Order: sequence, then structure tokens, then C-alpha cells
Amino acid sequence: MKMGIIGAGHIGGTAARLFVEAGYEVAISNSRGPETLAPLVAELGAHAHATTPIDAARFGDVVLVAIPLKDYPSLPAEELRGKVVIDAMNYYPNRDGHIDALDSGEKTSTALVAEHLAGARVVKAFNTIWFEHLKTQGHKAAPIEDRRVIFVSGDDAEAKRIVASLIEEIGFGPLDLGSIAESARQQPGAAVYNLDVTVKEARS
Ligand SMILES: NC(=O)c1ccc[n+]([C@@H]2O[C@H](COP(=O)([O-])OP(=O)(O)OC[C@H]3O[C@@H](n4cnc5c(N)ncnc54)[C@H](OP(=O)(O)O)[C@@H]3O)[C@@H](O)[C@H]2O)c1
Repeated sequence: MKMGIIGAGHIGGTAARLFVEAGYEVAISNSRGPETLAPLVAELGAHAHATTPIDAARFGDVVLVAIPLKDYPSLPAEELRGKVVIDAMNYYPNRDGHIDALDSGEKTSTALVAEHLAGARVVKAFNTIWFEHLKTQGHKAAPIEDRRVIFVSGDDAEAKRIVASLIEEIGFGPLDLGSIAESARQQPGAAVYNLDVTVKEARS
């Protein structure tokens, strides 16, 4: 499987390392251009290359999006049509500006992203784990139930299974919280947000 990554910061850069270590080919992108990612791809090695967001979207069977939420309208909807897209983004009004539909609770942030990415198979995941924990807490040898949990929400059951397998391959434990509407359960302010627990503990 090939991974595209849009956003090469704390979360995108950390996920890229884990995906390469798990044996994936990775195309990673940011807003400033592939040349600015030369140090990161040098560190990632031969199975990663830097590109543009459009080409990362074309390249990936699965595409992780980890940019500030306010920038979601720039995501390449045409190229992401039909792709499994992991939305790792969170809404922080002091960073992203106020978005009425989110302030009122009318929609989840992932619903907004999915509306923009019509035809993409959007799964919210990787948004409740601090990047330093993502870097260090994976344990591939541990039973799934005893691993650090990564929550997933989405409307496409097969896409969620693909993302859940990916989470297991990098040493974490997936836990399904429901639909895109129900992804409010893993947004900032929700009980599980940033919760540093195992799958077993999260279930109880
Ligand atoms: N930090 C965490 O521990 C953490 C944990 C879970 C979820 N998140 C969420 O994940 C998202 C990213 O957080 P982060 O901490 O990784 O941010 P970050 O370190 O500031 O990195 C953001 C990345 O997004 C890129 N970017 C910005 N606008 C873009 C655009 N329009 N197109 C393509 N790339 C763009 C930036 O590239 P340039 O530098 O070239 O602009 C940069 O590589 C946020 O929504 C955040 O809430 C963060």
C-alpha cells in the first residue's frame, strides 16, 4: 500500500516515519514545496519522497491529512475522490478562526472536511494522540487490547477497517467510535481527547 501525507509537521512527519518503518512507500507534502522537505526525506530514507499535496493525493491509496483545520478548503478534492483519507485535524478557534457550524455543534469538523472531499472515504483518526506519544508509544509485540488506543470514526466501514489495520501495523490499537456525526466523541473537549490509555482501558 502507498501512503500520501499532506502536512509534514509534528503529526505528518511522525506518521511518515512510522509508515516507512512498517514497510510503506510514502509521499509527503507541505504548503511551501517539496524542496523544503529535503532534510526530512533524507532522514526517512529511500522509501519516502517529498512532493506537492496534489501529487501526494494521487500517490496514496491512503492519504493522511495533518494540516491546520482552517486550511482544509485547499485540500485537492478531485485527486482525493475515492481515496481513503485520514483526517487527523482538530478545530482550535484561536488558531483556525471561528467556524459557525463548528461553534454551534451543528457539524463535526470531519463532516466539514468530508463535504469538501466529496467522494473520498474519510476516516477521523490520529487526532487524539500527541505527536510525541505517536512517536514513542507504539508496541508491535503487545496484544492489541494492551496497546495505546487510537480512535477512529467514519461512515465507510471498509475504509475504517483499512485504517484500523494500518494503526495495528504501526504498533497501536484502534477503537471504533462510530460515524462521522459521532466523531464529536473524539474532538477537542470530548472525554477521550488526549486520553493516554490502552484499548482495554478505553473500552471500560
Ligand atoms: N501536534 C500534535 O500533537 C497533534 C496531535 C493530533 C492532531 N493534531 C492536528 O494535526 C494537524 C497538524 O498539526 P501539527 O502539530 O502536525 O502541525 P504543524 O507541526 O504546525 O504542521 C503543519 C503542517 O501542515 C502544512 N500545511 C499547512 N497548510 C497547508 C496546506 N494548505 N497544504 C499542505 N500543507 C499545509 C505545514 O507546511 P508548511 O510549514 O510548509 O506551511 C506543516 O508541514 C492540526 O489540525 C492539529 O490540530 C496535532
